[in-house]
This record gives sequence, structure tokens and C-alpha cells, in this order.
Amino acid sequence: MTSAHGTSAYEGYRHRHLLGIEGLTATEILFLLDLSDGYVAVNRSEDKKKDLLDGRTVINLFFESSTRTRTSFELAAKRLGADVINMSVAWSSIKKGETLIDTAMTLNAMHPDVLVVRHPDSGAVQLLSEKMNCAVINGGDGSHEHPTQALLDALTIRRRLGTIEGLQIAICGDIAHSRVARSNIHLLTTLGARVRLIAPPTLMPSSIERMGVETFTDMRKGLAGCDIVMMLRLQTERMQGSYVPSTREYFHFFGLDHEKLQAAKPNALIMHPGPMNRGVEIDSALADDIHRSVIREQVEMGVAVRMACLETLNHNLHLARSQQEQAAQ
Ligand code: NCD
Repeated sequence: MTSAHGTSAYEGYRHRHLLGIEGLTATEILFLLDLSDGYVAVNRSEDKKKDLLDGRTVINLFFESSTRTRTSFELAAKRLGADVINMSVAWSSIKKGETLIDTAMTLNAMHPDVLVVRHPDSGAVQLLSEKMNCAVINGGDGSHEHPTQALLDALTIRRRLGTIEGLQIAICGDIAHSRVARSNIHLLTTLGARVRLIAPPTLMPSSIERMGVETFTDMRKGLAGCDIVMMLRLQTERMQGSYVPSTREYFHFFGLDHEKLQAAKPNALIMHPGPMNRGVEIDSALADDIHRSVIREQVEMGVAVRMACLETLNHNLHLARSQQEQAAQ
């Protein structure tokens, strides 16, 4: 079988699910990025609709609020021809006391092909995947992983700078609560970038250096010589108690503005997964500076990456099913 773009297909990623970046090889990551590149061209063309997922069902199961990730997955699945169902469970079944496993059983009975799950608890998506007969994509679990965000960030960087290897990349802000940071650390270090984390001590997880990163508590020192600056939101919904004195003081020390950015390389690019808190972690004018900010491009790359992931997992699932059928005959 060949992919939509005529590349020889799917050898590069043989897993049934996409639960995290941790454990993926550089080859697997590059395979997904190459496939995504083809979808950027598809999404920019007039005819965006493909039929690779015709007759397939994708369920977006979101236990946490989301704007861009859910709509991005929905658009990606629809552009590939799938039927899509969106379920926001935060206040429906959970409130009624249904367990995660009951939810999985209910959905399994509807025979989906791909389930995209976002959940406030780290590890919940992995647990669900063990109970499902379909492919599962982690759309963000607690402060653990958000693999498609890291892939779309990598695609954005690679298309701008040609490579990830050898780049100096700073991830700044609320590292402690960020699944985006964790997935990015795994991906960027696997592809040979040097990663720095910049955060106040209260938002820097202890022993995070074990992940192969350098840590800084001073923005200017951390940003010195960086090619890429990734900003993160203060995830107050995951905080119990207060981690920073005030958002005003936080902006003063850790908010990215033109002045602090001068420490980075002259053409350093600015990224943010969204949603942004303007004036808290990033200066509003800088976020909109078309010469430095690639934040909108990240959103565009998100759809392409999700199309590539859906295509690959759908292929792997149906290959596995047909092999099982053959073995049973
Ligand atoms: C991130 C998330 O949900 O982890 N957002 C996103 O997926 N675009 C980051 C955040 O919420 O701050």
C-alpha cells in the first residue's frame, strides 16, 4: 500500500497507538514528520479532501476543555473522509459516576477505528488504550504527554530552519505542569537538539536534568544563543495553591518581551502551543510579530500532523485486523 503522497508506506511507524513521544525512535518521528509535510501541501491546495479514511469512524473523547486540539483532530479526520464524533465528557458521564473503563466499553461497542483522548490524569489514555480494540491517540494526558503537539512543533521548526539537529531550543515557563514540555523534550533530544528549560524554581520539576536538558532560572542567561524560544502558559488549573507571587511579577522576570529576546540569536523564532495569556508569559505585540512569531504556523502544522497520524494508525489497525483474520482461517 502507498500513502496519499506516493511514498512507500508505513514501515516507519508500526505501533498500534500514539500514546507519547517517549520511546519513539528518531526514524519513527521523522517518518511521521515526512508524511505530515505532504499534508501541508494538501491543506494549502484547493482540493483538501482525501478518501483514505472513507467508512472509518474517529471519536474525539475530551475530558478536558480544548479548542485547537479538538478542532484540529476533527478537521484532520474529515479531510481524510472519516465520520467524526465529538464527545465532551467533563460534565456528563463523569458527573454521573461512570468510570473511565465503563466509558471505554461503551465506546468500544460502537466500533470506532480511532479514538482521540484528552484527560486530566497522567496515564489515563494509556489505561484506556489497553481496553480498546481501536487505535488510540493521546490528545494530552495531565502533565504527562501531548505527542501531536510536539510533532507539530517539530514540523514547524524543521520547515523554517531545515533541521532540528544541533539547534539550541529554550522551553520557558510552567514546565512543572506541562505535557507539551515533556513531549517536546523527548522529541527534540531524540532528534539531536540541545534543550534548555527556563522557569522559576517553583515551576521547575526536580531532577528534570535526567531528561538530558539544561536548566536555568534566569531568562537572559537561558535564552543566550538560542535558535528557538518556546513559551508556555501558567497552567493554573493544575496548580494547588500559588506558585508565583503575581502575574505582574511573573511577566517582569519570565514574560518574553523584545528586551529579553535580545539575548537569543538575532533571528530566533518564538513558539507557543496556545492558549496564550498575553501580558503574562508573552508580550502581546511580540506574539503577533510576523518576523519572529510562528504561533499561527504551529496551528496550521497541527492539522497536517494529525492527518499523518490518523492515516498511519488507521493503516496499522486494518493491517493487524486482516492479519488476524487470515491467521484465524
Ligand atoms: C496545551 C495543552 O492543552 O496541553 N494546549 C494545546 O494543546 N494547544 C497547552 C496549554 O493548555 O497551555
